[in-house]
Amino acid sequence: MRYRRLGASDLDVSEISLGSWLTYGAGVDDSKGRACVDAAFDAGINFIDTSNIYGTGAAEEFLGRALKGRKRDSYVLATKLFFPMTETDKGLSRAQIRKQLDASLARLRTDHVDLYQCHRYDDETPLEETMDALGEAVKSGKARWIGFSEWSPENIRAALAIPGAARFVSSQPQYSILYRRPEKEVFPLCAANGIGQIVWSPLGQGVLTGKYRKGAPPPADSRAASPEMGGFMGRWINDAVLSKVDRLRPIAEKAGLSLPKLALAWVLRRPEVSSAIIGASRPEQVAENAAASGIVLAPDVVAAVDAAVA
Ligand SMILES: NC(=O)c1ccc[n+]([C@@H]2O[C@H](COP(=O)([O-])OP(=O)(O)OC[C@H]3O[C@@H](n4cnc5c(N)ncnc54)[C@H](OP(=O)(O)O)[C@@H]3O)[C@@H](O)[C@H]2O)c1
Repeated sequence: MRYRRLGASDLDVSEISLGSWLTYGAGVDDSKGRACVDAAFDAGINFIDTSNIYGTGAAEEFLGRALKGRKRDSYVLATKLFFPMTETDKGLSRAQIRKQLDASLARLRTDHVDLYQCHRYDDETPLEETMDALGEAVKSGKARWIGFSEWSPENIRAALAIPGAARFVSSQPQYSILYRRPEKEVFPLCAANGIGQIVWSPLGQGVLTGKYRKGAPPPADSRAASPEMGGFMGRWINDAVLSKVDRLRPIAEKAGLSLPKLALAWVLRRPEVSSAIIGASRPEQVAENAAASGIVLAPDVVAAVDAAVA
């Protein structure tokens, strides 16, 4: 496993990290989840991403149990807040940042997270209040560094312009062969300001592994077939997207790579990307995906991928 510095922080994070959306504490049973966490450590993954909203606290609770007994400085732990935990507990106000951070720490069974992220931008709270409260969280030692997810370039610029505000070191956008929007503005803006990208759904929720085929039902053991986990896959399971994946198959084969490795190495070709956050329902997937770290795609392979999905 290779490691990259996360923006202007002092954190060295594994190129492949383990996420917990839909899976742990929710769609994947605890014994499989624990096997995935063990496989991650075995493969050198040191970076784990979660959120208070995943399973409405259940993913953090699972990680609290699964990480118990591991040395706290042997991994980098990231969580988030914003989405409603109850009808009234939501957003990025000072009160919510204090309350949700304490609740996350209790579920995660730790006194600090390495990275505390705003899961989305909050239009209802003055940005100054949010930044001040994040600064407080850092000063208290409960959060070592701060980040955001899916903020627009305007949101990012506004935060950077607040005098004396705590520094963001990470941005968490969706980014994959199938979804390239942040390349244009978010990547360069962040790179110029010490903010690294930790990208989500780098495998398009599994579509880029090649397991879904045009005209065939999704495999029974896949996310798309799962009533608990498949609800967000609509945009990916259709003939247009699956045709693109079909065009990637021979490219991967010619390069001597599996499709998941091609997709992850493609994401990691960008120096702005500090880590690709994968999901996994089985330990074998963790091992396979972790092995993408260190693969450098030749320029003709990158060009062929670009052409296949253009
Ligand atoms: N900030 C945000 O708004 C946001 C949003 C979404 C996600 N995230 C973060 O990003 C993480 C990753 O998202 P994601 O789970 O959508 O990522 P992904 O890596 O694109 O998809 C993961 C899923 O693909 C399948 N898979 C993974 N590796 C495979 C392999 N080698 N072979 C075959 N199938 C494989 C597994 O599903 P099955 O085995 O069930 O098919 C797995 O659960 C999340 O856990 C979360 O931490 C953040």
